Amino acid sequence: MMSGEAEIQPKETTGSPRVSRRRFMAEGFAAAAWGTFWAAMTGSMAGTVRFFFPNVLFEPPTTFKAGLPDEYPVGVLSERWKQQQRVWIVRTTEGFYALLAKCTHLGCTPNWIPTEDKFKCPCHGSGFHRDGVNFEGPAPRPLERVKIALAEDGQLLVDTSVRFRQETGEWEKPEAFLEYA
Ligand code: FES
Repeated sequence: MMSGEAEIQPKETTGSPRVSRRRFMAEGFAAAAWGTFWAAMTGSMAGTVRFFFPNVLFEPPTTFKAGLPDEYPVGVLSERWKQQQRVWIVRTTEGFYALLAKCTHLGCTPNWIPTEDKFKCPCHGSGFHRDGVNFEGPAPRPLERVKIALAEDGQLLVDTSVRFRQETGEWEKPEAFLEYA
């Protein structure tokens, strides 16, 4: 280099606005792609986890053993299962039937009033005879009966998911009444 000549340094080009914009766009697309990918992966994993741990609602079993028939004296209406299973068990001279403790008006739980030999609903005053037939108040129909049978071990077996309506003749079905002398 001759004396007096100024050394010309090449200009840096890496910081030019055009290149920065292009890089910015490229990085932006990459970030968006990663975001989409991870969103898809997370959604997929969440679906997998839900498959193995489904959101199941716990409900008590509808079938239960209610003890041996001789635990229920003839003529007695038993409230033994009212709190736990919402069922009354009645033994007559011919056998057993089970009544669902749910008012047919709006679903309240009636009370058994032994001194008056009737059920009385505390919500709007409907009354039912011990066989479940309505006789006063706004209840439009009798209480429902539920399936009652004998289990293999000799105990009473009640299934509250199988119900029988008097007004449609279903009380005549064999499962609505357990003959037991
Ligand atoms: S819910 Fe029983 S009378 Fe209304």
